[in-house]
Amino acid sequence: MPAGEFDARNSPVSTEILKVEVVVVGAGPGGYVAGIRLGQLEKKTLVVEKTAPGGVCLNVGCIPSKALIHASKVFEQSAHGQDIGIHVENPRVDIERLQKWKASVVGKLTSGVRQLLKANGCDYRQGTATLLSPRTIQLVESDRELLIEAEHIVIATGARPVQIPSLPFDGKRIVDSTGALDFAELPRRLVVVGAGYIGMEIGTLYAKFGSKVTFVEALPTILPGSEAECVQVVARRAKKLGMEVLLGAKAKGLVDKGDVAVLSVETANGVVELEADKVLVAVGRKPNIEDIGLEIAGVKTAGGFIVVDRQMRTSVHNIFAIGDVVGQPMLAHKASREAEVAAEVIAEKHAEMDAQVIPSVVFTDPEIASAGLTVEDAEKRGHKVKVGKFPFAALGRAIANFDTDGFAKVVMDAESGRVLGVHVVGAGAGDLISEAALAIEMGASAADLAMTIHPHPTLSEAIMEAAKAAQGEAIHILNR
Ligand code: NAI
Repeated sequence: MPAGEFDARNSPVSTEILKVEVVVVGAGPGGYVAGIRLGQLEKKTLVVEKTAPGGVCLNVGCIPSKALIHASKVFEQSAHGQDIGIHVENPRVDIERLQKWKASVVGKLTSGVRQLLKANGCDYRQGTATLLSPRTIQLVESDRELLIEAEHIVIATGARPVQIPSLPFDGKRIVDSTGALDFAELPRRLVVVGAGYIGMEIGTLYAKFGSKVTFVEALPTILPGSEAECVQVVARRAKKLGMEVLLGAKAKGLVDKGDVAVLSVETANGVVELEADKVLVAVGRKPNIEDIGLEIAGVKTAGGFIVVDRQMRTSVHNIFAIGDVVGQPMLAHKASREAEVAAEVIAEKHAEMDAQVIPSVVFTDPEIASAGLTVEDAEKRGHKVKVGKFPFAALGRAIANFDTDGFAKVVMDAESGRVLGVHVVGAGAGDLISEAALAIEMGASAADLAMTIHPHPTLSEAIMEAAKAAQGEAIHILNR
């Protein structure tokens, strides 16, 4: 028997052996999509998951955070509607009811995932999986253990929050994003360490509910990876919402004094002490690649990620990996596309990951959405660029919505006219960006975007007008 092969005959006699064509480890937006697609392709597939179907995204990430973000917006609009003639006396947050509603949103979606897997002929089991060989997985369920033999394995185990050694998560004072989406009481003072995607989204929602929110960010800007001009709009709004931001600052340690905790923070001006009821640490996420038997199966990793090719195949021919475990950006929609590719390759279809762009959205107030290159990135790659920008303040629908912060920006290659990137900051930016992603995938020019008739009055006109502006032909602003 070759090295690394597992012989089930040597295992405890009572262990049940299950044979499938494919086993998918992890049921997040990578794993469950792989399961559905494999089912559609008539592969006998089993999806196994340690916690709950839907993974981080549906259970403790994208979806519950968006439910709370929506609720915080409703609350803020009720509390500050007087400018448009809406008076609501003493709006208040019933957090118990809010958390129940959030749980019902999550419940609907996770049970939907179970149903979709089943309807597509894909089995699902709850348990912790470990690779014992390139074709064998041990699954430990709550009341028993079994062995699964599979022709192919798809690893989709996701990622978890990074911990700062001096601020270990305790679920009470110091929480990760999961804890911060599950508070039983609104924190009066919330300190957020890390002003990246997670920190800014969650911090903003609590600021709208009335918490005093302070950010501690090591770098000289909030949202360091996002388009700089878009970030300025969010930073201004954060200030208006009363959020305080300490930049170039590092959290050092926390002293719990019973009724309050005191966080010491190193800043350029010396050590600052911040009082907090809760501290959210959101300083990045790291892939779950330990303890799943990768070494035993011979799967190669590099820089903390599983190495895959464009077909999502690992260094072991019959093992695939998708989602957060294979690299940045750690986004649900990237994982889902990779899942489709892996499933199709396993079913011997021709497929590979050849996306031109992976759009990203930060659900702050307002939202930032990007697809493709920024001006700086495009210039670094040798493009001569032209930029068209259109402010939401000149958009009829944005004015009528009382939501005029923001703009759309189209980055165009000056010679070919092709769209290289689109960046939107403003209400609903996340919903507007898909058009830009499609334009870039199709190799469209800014003229294509500009000449496509966009419905009026909608926010989508901002992208059309920005594309016209890139050519000096915007209608509702002056062309400079
Ligand atoms: P992040 O990488 O976006 O931001 C972490 C921030 O923490 C950075 O600004 C970093 O400079 C700062 N930082 C690191 N160490 C620090 C320290 N000791 N003291 C102070 N600041 C420190 O990571 P985040 O927000 O945890 O999110 C992780 C990932 O999850 C994102 O990169 C994204 O891929 C994904 N995500 C996506 C969302 C979306 O699509 N809307 C929402 C939330 C997360």
